[in-house]
Amino acid sequence: MTQALWTEVDQYLTGQLVPPDPALDEALAASDAAGLPAINVSPNQGKLLHLLARLRGAKRILEVGTLAGYSAIWLARALPPDGELISLEIDPRHAEVARASLANAGLADRASVRVGPALATLPTLTGPFDLVFIDADKPNNPGYFEWALRLSTVGSVIIVDNVVRGGKVVDGAGDANVQGARAVIEMMAAEPRVSATAIQTVGSKSYDGFAMALVIS
Ligand SMILES: C[S@@+](CC[C@H](N)C(=O)[O-])C[C@H]1O[C@@H](n2cnc3c(N)ncnc32)[C@H](O)[C@@H]1O
Repeated sequence: MTQALWTEVDQYLTGQLVPPDPALDEALAASDAAGLPAINVSPNQGKLLHLLARLRGAKRILEVGTLAGYSAIWLARALPPDGELISLEIDPRHAEVARASLANAGLADRASVRVGPALATLPTLTGPFDLVFIDADKPNNPGYFEWALRLSTVGSVIIVDNVVRGGKVVDGAGDANVQGARAVIEMMAAEPRVSATAIQTVGSKSYDGFAMALVIS
């Protein structure tokens, strides 16, 4: 079981189930051209986010960590015409690329990017959001989860990306990113207002995983 095989299987699955899409492909090209790191979700992960938002019937979506707007496009496309996606990004250059790609995808009417450290922006937002996707700096995951919960309502879904970290999540003495992953999982475990799980994944983005919590009370 190797990265080459995971990538080949992802290519097969994506080839079958995630048809090429000009706006998404152009968003990745714009990201590359601007020199942004290729740390966006993979196409099949993006489609999973899109399907989860549709399953939830989400009208308001919050994203923490925009990068070039790739996952934001997937999520915003799940919204009805009067829906809203707010994505938080610390780097103005990333936000600029993302805004252009969201506009290119025809989503400027429902998707916006707010620039600043997410922990400073979150207290300025008004909830509830139906779905929150947390994918920014991992050491701040506990604060993001706390805010996500505060900005949620019963039935909201909170997804946290990159919580397995190549298996390092089991290392209690791991680095700050590992500690961020462990802390958010342990917060979900201890929080009576949510019912949560976490899933390991392999694919073109290597070995990682995500956690998902449903707000139940
Ligand atoms: C993994 S990337 C997001 C990828 C994006 N969700 C996607 O899949 O297309 C993480 C992003 O979070 C941003 N970020 C890092 N620290 C942040 C902070 N404190 N507040 C807001 N954004 C932050 C980074 O600049 C980067 O663009």
